Amino acid sequence: MRLRVVVTRRIFPELIEELRARYELVDNQEDAVWSAAQLAERLRDADGALLTSGERVDDALLAACPQLKVASNIAVGYNNIDLAACTRHGVAATNTPDVLNEATADHAWALLLAAARRIGESERWLRAGHWQRWTFEMFMGAELHGTTLGVLGMGRIGRAIARRAQGFGMRVLYHNRRRLPAAEEGAAHWVTKEDLLRAVDHLIVMVPGGTETRHLIGSAELALMKPTAVLVNVARGGVVDDDALAAALRAGRLAAAGLDVFEDEPKVHASLLALENAVLTPHIASSTRATREAMAKLAMRNLDDVLQGRRPAALLNPDVWDHRRH
Ligand code: GLV
Repeated sequence: MRLRVVVTRRIFPELIEELRARYELVDNQEDAVWSAAQLAERLRDADGALLTSGERVDDALLAACPQLKVASNIAVGYNNIDLAACTRHGVAATNTPDVLNEATADHAWALLLAAARRIGESERWLRAGHWQRWTFEMFMGAELHGTTLGVLGMGRIGRAIARRAQGFGMRVLYHNRRRLPAAEEGAAHWVTKEDLLRAVDHLIVMVPGGTETRHLIGSAELALMKPTAVLVNVARGGVVDDDALAAALRAGRLAAAGLDVFEDEPKVHASLLALENAVLTPHIASSTRATREAMAKLAMRNLDDVLQGRRPAALLNPDVWDHRRH
């Protein structure tokens, strides 16, 4: 009997056809939004699932799909997956590390540049027909070259962000709970979180999401930052307190922000939407054709590996392996 696989969101049609050749497939090429109950219903007799960070994998879902052997996330972040619950139910959980490092780092810089140089605001102004005459002081932005960049969360993507700073002649300070070995630090220097917030000219946040990092940047942290600073969040919604950030931006306690992730996606805090000094993108940091293809293919490989009894490289809950469902 062919194994059953569910793909929860629309992905490239040629990849869907590849999967259909190997599995009995339930897909969602119309990209409908499935409720938790609809997801559970479709996964009820599935052996594997390819899913995205929009779908929650928890005890309730896993209890409703007793055949499921693998939850393969097409994302590097996995705060949508309760790993302990997966392990309890014998389900392997996997993600897509590394293949999106460079695209995500590029987008972090796109947001930093756009927010610092007021690209969104000045473009809206131009398109609205306000450009009647050029003035010397128009849309003066923040200096990037030669300043100090802070990276909060120097994992694989954080390091790719830090490397790019060299081209801008920027010094890089970073904070992680644990200092990196010298070989991985590159030209960056570890400091405490408080020193990082106080010292840097601009800050990019790149820590994993979830309860441990919820509101890691709130009003107390924002108050430590320079009022001329730009803050970029390409990590996860909720790592930055959007309400506190909007208040700081409105009051001029922070110069600008570039945000790709939000607390209640796809809803965006109304006070952020109203601000000219916030550049906002809809969670697209890894969205290039090449990177999205690499993510989907890696997620498919993870799924195939588990269903064929091979231990996948990107296994998130290694403890499950010896007592996984067969
Ligand atoms: C995107 O947000 C990802 O986690 O891959």
